[in-house]
Amino acid sequence: MPTPEGPADDYDAATVAEHDDLNPDGPDHDYFRALADDLAATCITDLGCGTGILTVTLTQPGRTVTGIDPSARMLTYAAAHPGGHRVQWRHGTSEQLPPGQDLVLMTGNIAMHILDPHWHTTVCDSAATLRPGGVLAFETRNTTPPPSTRTTAVPSRRRGGSLAAA
Ligand SMILES: C[S@@+](CC[C@H](N)C(=O)[O-])C[C@H]1O[C@@H](n2cnc3c(N)ncnc32)[C@H](O)[C@@H]1O
Repeated sequence: MPTPEGPADDYDAATVAEHDDLNPDGPDHDYFRALADDLAATCITDLGCGTGILTVTLTQPGRTVTGIDPSARMLTYAAAHPGGHRVQWRHGTSEQLPPGQDLVLMTGNIAMHILDPHWHTTVCDSAATLRPGGVLAFETRNTTPPPSTRTTAVPSRRRGGSLAAA
């Protein structure tokens, strides 16, 4: 999926509309939901939330969930999801991260599309927003199988303290 650099480069409506069919809920989302529960996370940000297909499922009483994306079209679509009203949507990138997060997620193949110097900024901003013991979790995808095949999520864990020191 291309990365929009600004409003003029936003995704077209058709691409947004087909996103959830091409990237449905599955074991990768189960992993991130379980991680949130394991951490007893009360503040979670889904950075690069896209259509919010995972974001809305992270909401529960006593938990604040934020979805951030630079695509206005993605965010508009996300807010219209059932449960979208329970998420705080922010337009932008890592500079929009709220403080005091227990968990920052970057799901789908987003981590493979943010290149330096943006990647460095994204990781530093994430480290700065995490509470002590907070977790930044992201996945990369195995691109060896045929592109038409849903690839395997390989989530990674980094502790906030380690990131800050990196
Ligand atoms: C492949 S989609 C993944 C969406 C969602 N995380 C998912 O798994 O369904 C990648 C998303 O990352 C967003 N994005 C691109 N560059 C970004 C950046 N520098 N920071 C945050 N999000 C970004 C795009 O607008 C797009 O919505």
